[in-house]
Amino acid sequence: MKLLVCGGAGFIGSNFVRIRVRDHGDEVVVLDKLTYAGRRENLADVDHAFVQGAIEDAERVAEAIAGVDAVVNFAAETHVDRSIAEPDAFVATHAIGTYRLLEAAREAGVRYVQVSTDEVYGSIEEGSFTETSPLAPSSPYSATKAGADLLVWSYHHTFGLEAMICRGSNNYGPYQYPEKLIPLMILNALHGDPLPVYGDGMQVRNWIYVEDFARGIGHVLDHGTPGSVYNVGGPDECPNIEVVHRIIELTGAAPDLIEHVTDRPGHDRRYSLSSDKVRALGWEPRERFADGLAKTVEWYRANEDWWAPIRSGDYRAYYERQYGRALG
Ligand code: NAD
Ligand code: TYD
Repeated sequence: MKLLVCGGAGFIGSNFVRIRVRDHGDEVVVLDKLTYAGRRENLADVDHAFVQGAIEDAERVAEAIAGVDAVVNFAAETHVDRSIAEPDAFVATHAIGTYRLLEAAREAGVRYVQVSTDEVYGSIEEGSFTETSPLAPSSPYSATKAGADLLVWSYHHTFGLEAMICRGSNNYGPYQYPEKLIPLMILNALHGDPLPVYGDGMQVRNWIYVEDFARGIGHVLDHGTPGSVYNVGGPDECPNIEVVHRIIELTGAAPDLIEHVTDRPGHDRRYSLSSDKVRALGWEPRERFADGLAKTVEWYRANEDWWAPIRSGDYRAYYERQYGRALG
């Protein structure tokens, strides 16, 4: 297949492109705006064609979509804290950008997969969300992602676009930008910087290793039914404070680096996905959290070349704004 992968220079997108090119022999065109989170280096070892541009830009989209068999859309602003501080780009990318891509996919008559998130369902105290759970997003990030999902559904329902939606749980693994919990804590622990835990740290996330999610999206692309939503969740749930304690053990950092800081406004308490529907299609996760986390710590230890330019650049200013203190 020839695929257009939007947002393919980011964390999950680059893992997806690597797997599709190496394991499936697909030809891939990446369309990516290269925001702070998108990096050509993430794809340095993978054959692909690259178009730099925003999914809101109809001309760039038309150039990139020519001759492809399917579109997979990862392009997004992805950090909840940034969506609270500066929501503009979230609305532009998720609403306008998804709309432009859907128009182009409709015109080209190609299959379309929207990469979405469990956060569109909101928080759940007990049990797990299924694909029929109501949408109840609580942050500007998740609300705009939910809006994008609804647009995708409308293009299937109204125009017959062969579209599917994959809702993933929290991903972790190689190439994740260190604003997110796991890489932030790993790099701070390796540097002896404080480990900022929001509130009581008892919020629970359903962790999935990035290659498992990437394979799940590919599985839906290859075997899913148009017009369907598929939850793709990880095998393990863990409270944040326990994640941080595990990272302390794996890095040998001092436990007194933990600092409980002001909680995130509107913080969702727990996410949990039922993935029975995609499992029935033949997908299952391979990596348990304990092993995947150890592999991830090793990857960050071994790849200073990847993270050193990030940690010494604009990220420092972001960190200071978000946490009210400088990185050491
Ligand atoms: P990321 O922030 O690492 O990467 C996003 C990529 O999209 C970057 O390469 C960026 O340059 C690009 N991009 C942003 N705006 C763009 C635009 N307007 N036009 C073109 N490219 C643009 O994100 P990620 O963690 O890899 O997430 C990828 C997708 O998976 C997102 O849609 C996200 O909502 C979804 N998702 C993420 C997680 C997670 O835990 N990270 C979980 C479930 C779902
Ligand atoms: P994050 O990686 O931002 O993903 P999401 O908010 O999309 O689930 O955060 C994961 C959890 O970790 C979430 O409950 C917020 C918490 N968290 C902290 O406690 N401290 C931090 O510095 C960060 C970035 C997150």
